[in-house]
Amino acid sequence: MESALTARDRVGVQDFVLLENYTSEAAFIENLRKRFKENLIYTYIGSVLVSVNPYKDLEIYTKNHMERYRGVNFYEVSPHIYAVADNSYRSMRTEGKDQCILISGESGAGKTEASKKILQYYAVTCPASEQVQTVKDRLLQSNPVLEAFGNAKTLRNDNSSRFGKYMDIQFDFKGAPVGGHIINYLLEKSRVVHQNHGERNFHIFYQLIEGGEEDLLRHLGLERNPQQYQYLIKGNCPKVSSINDRSDWKVVRKALTVIGFSENEVEELLNIIASVLHLGNVQYGGEDSNACITSDIQIKYLARLLGVNVTALTEALTHKKIIAKGEELMSPLNLEQASSARDALAKAVYGRTFTWLVNKINTSLTYTGDSSKNYSVIGLLDIYGFEVFQHNSFEQFCINYCNEKLQQLFIELTLKSEQDEYEAEGITWEPVQYFNNKIICDLVEEKFKGIISILDEECLRPGDASDLTFLEKLEDTVGGHPHFVTHKLADAKTRKVMGRDEFRLLHYAGEVNYNVNGFLDKNNDLLFRNLKEVMCMSENKILTQCFNREELSDKKRPDTAATQFKASLAKLMEILMSKEPSYVRCIKPNDSKQSGRFDEVLIRHQVKYLGLMENLRVRRAGFAYRRRYEVFLQRYKSLCPGTWPNWDGKLSDGVSTLVKHLGYKPEEYKMGRSKIFIRFPKTLFATEDALETRKHSLATKLQAGWKGYSQKCKYQKLRNSAIAVQAWWRGILARRRAQHRRQAANTIRRFIKGFIYRHKERCPENEYFLDYVRYSFLMNLRKNLPKNVLDKSWPTPPAALTEASEHLRKMCMQNMVWSYCKKINPEWKHQMEQKMIASEIFKDKKDNYPQSVPKLFHQHLLIFLCFCPQYAVPVTKYDRRGYKPRHRQLLLTANSAVIAEEGKLKQRIDYGTLKGISVSSLSDGVFVLHVPSEDNKQKGDVVLQSDHVIETLTKLAICADKINSININQGSIKFTMGQGKEGIIDFTPGSELLVAKAKNGHLSVTAPRLNSR
Ligand SMILES: Nc1ncnc2c1ncn2[C@@H]1O[C@H](COP(=O)(O)OP(=O)(O)OP(=O)(O)O)[C@@H](O)[C@H]1O
Ligand SMILES: [Mg+2]
Repeated sequence: MESALTARDRVGVQDFVLLENYTSEAAFIENLRKRFKENLIYTYIGSVLVSVNPYKDLEIYTKNHMERYRGVNFYEVSPHIYAVADNSYRSMRTEGKDQCILISGESGAGKTEASKKILQYYAVTCPASEQVQTVKDRLLQSNPVLEAFGNAKTLRNDNSSRFGKYMDIQFDFKGAPVGGHIINYLLEKSRVVHQNHGERNFHIFYQLIEGGEEDLLRHLGLERNPQQYQYLIKGNCPKVSSINDRSDWKVVRKALTVIGFSENEVEELLNIIASVLHLGNVQYGGEDSNACITSDIQIKYLARLLGVNVTALTEALTHKKIIAKGEELMSPLNLEQASSARDALAKAVYGRTFTWLVNKINTSLTYTGDSSKNYSVIGLLDIYGFEVFQHNSFEQFCINYCNEKLQQLFIELTLKSEQDEYEAEGITWEPVQYFNNKIICDLVEEKFKGIISILDEECLRPGDASDLTFLEKLEDTVGGHPHFVTHKLADAKTRKVMGRDEFRLLHYAGEVNYNVNGFLDKNNDLLFRNLKEVMCMSENKILTQCFNREELSDKKRPDTAATQFKASLAKLMEILMSKEPSYVRCIKPNDSKQSGRFDEVLIRHQVKYLGLMENLRVRRAGFAYRRRYEVFLQRYKSLCPGTWPNWDGKLSDGVSTLVKHLGYKPEEYKMGRSKIFIRFPKTLFATEDALETRKHSLATKLQAGWKGYSQKCKYQKLRNSAIAVQAWWRGILARRRAQHRRQAANTIRRFIKGFIYRHKERCPENEYFLDYVRYSFLMNLRKNLPKNVLDKSWPTPPAALTEASEHLRKMCMQNMVWSYCKKINPEWKHQMEQKMIASEIFKDKKDNYPQSVPKLFHQHLLIFLCFCPQYAVPVTKYDRRGYKPRHRQLLLTANSAVIAEEGKLKQRIDYGTLKGISVSSLSDGVFVLHVPSEDNKQKGDVVLQSDHVIETLTKLAICADKINSININQGSIKFTMGQGKEGIIDFTPGSELLVAKAKNGHLSVTAPRLNSR
């Protein structure tokens, strides 16, 4: 409640006790209207819940809502039926006292819906085991069954409960629902045989006809048309738009199974329901004084379904058993008597079956745990509210009597609890003026003098007792009572609105005129003995339980309906008195079952009949508001510097400090033992407004504080994380470094040791060093390998690797050679081969050989048309006579060397005839080709000179295959000049090349000295 105190102007107050003008009915209704407009259907009067039927589905019964109200204080959340349910549940659990919730209101106000909501709340929120789940299911499923058999469409409510219901829900010590028990009150049996226009019989008849399977209907002899049955057509209302009989039938069938009805039981139950319909169709004919049944088939069906003998049934429906002078006689009934006997049977069968049904449900809900009563109970009373119609009969009399009793209990308990609270808190009780309706209850129920006693007397006395004699008796006995009036006793004004056959009771809720017609019959509720006898012999097991044979042998007249009702009410009061009550007062907003319509006249009427103003007055007699100190202080402590942010001392001192600071005047409040009592709502509202203003500044402060705090926390968290990461990382680095150092030190140590032992055999001490030396040698070698074959450099290996180094060196060289060779093309190869041959012939033998090495050998090709030489080179030929030099060309062909002069062949020397070649060891280019002297063609050896003597002679040696035939001479060369003559060439070193005939006739060759030699 506190949470919405500030929204009070728009949505009204959540608790009527906070209404400033609490005595004003208009203010009360205005508050209801404001809230109803906002779909706020619940309002408190203290702890009493006022509920206005919204006639539409509001989204306020979800599981979330249930959770919101679970275990929460009554006034912390907005008013709700769940708050009442939860409060009762918690009181039961904490105080260990049985609870009851009394739901009242007029027809259609939402009592049954409220009781279902409470049941659902417990089913969902209470702890459950598998066994408990079965009980929960049965508790929930008992509703559709009881509604099918006990509810009907009336003008006021499409699903009107036509019986009163008190249901106990039993909880074990863990708070789980473990059982239940239902007591039913005064079923409106007359509805079985008659319905007002626009109303229906009990739902089950229509459900069976609409929803029953074909086979079932055939078995029961029923047709799928309610209009066929006399008991269903009176109200002329077989269909109701808000009811789906077919689907309801399925629900009921399933519910019967869940509750534990066997197939046989269901069959027998339905046989009875069908039999009531057949009974209604039993037609009488014959003479007026001697009724007989005209519908033979009907009676046969009926007998079969009831499990009784046809003849006996037929006789019982048309005759009455009279005992005269100890003899039993059968007296025929007239048509009217027979019809009423039939209807009486229908009512009795249905009424007793209904009671059997309740008992059967009770059996299935029985707590099977420990037989000693170690469970707590919450009772739910869903009972008819005060009824005032145009025509009020015996039923309204009973119902209003019941409400009178409940009002009495309510006043007593509310006042008592109020008084108890004041007493407990040590506050002086200020007596409250209220209307005590005991006087009316006494008027109805007092022994010998009360209306019920007089009615019973009229029913029992011999002679011609009638409804009117009953009325006269009433006038005689209670005529002077201030709450009783009849036409005869009334003043002129009242007479105008009263019939002569009526009596008026001035109930606490208002005046009601009751028409006495039918009172005696309804009170007697008689069923002829022979009908009872037939029913007692039924083969239907349910009926045998309903019609007990002992009833027949019992000579004592059964209690009348009113006396039974009175007794059951007394029992109910006893039950309720033993429990702590909570109240739900239901109001219906309009008669047309429309949502959103707020009919003020109708509501005022109900506010009056429900005694809500009286209730409010009692509740507000002393103080409008009371709260426990801790709750009050907790809520408002921020309004006083002394109590904010916390009060450490005694709670009452804290509250005193607070209210003093707020400026409460002494008459405005009182301090109890554990609670503060505030007399006027306006004091509370002023405090509430101050809190609202304070909340804003507090909220800003809190926000700032919170933001700062949360940022600081965030920063701290980040900082700590950064430090942790840093420390961790530093640790890793340090560990790595230390490990590095350790390894380095080890390495150095090993190195030094290895160095010391390096000359020893390989052993653990030196193996590292040796390996390292090897390794570094190899690594060094890798970097410094010779670049080419001529590069002879090679790192010095350690001793251990001398051999391997040598292998490697060779391999390296081979490899270089190999790769060099691979790169050589055929031409170069040829060149090399020639160079090799040149080397073989001339190396270290002829002076100008070294100069020839870097020069490539050429082909010196000249074009000769008639030859095809492999080599050609210009040469100088010295002839034999006078050694005159002549320019010639030396051509080497495949078979011969040819000396030519400008393309003209001058001389051919076949290689085969070439005896040898002579050349000097000096640097000149002179050489001699020796040919056989006997060869005339040749005319002696040939003396030639070439600038490329090494090249020329190498090629000639190759072509002629005369490698070994080259003579290198020192000093001089002899040669044949033809005709047996011999020439000599003398070689001398000189400054420059000079070839001339010497005086001695020799050819003199001066060869230049070369640096190389
Ligand atoms: N809280 C609610 N929310 C929505 N509709 C509701 C609520 N309460 C009642 N109703 C509607 O009002 C109809 C009548 O309610 P309900 O049957 O509970 O009345 P009642 O007080 O038990 O009447 P009766 O005395 O005739 O049995 C319901 O069928 C339903 O349509
Ligand atoms: Mg109801």
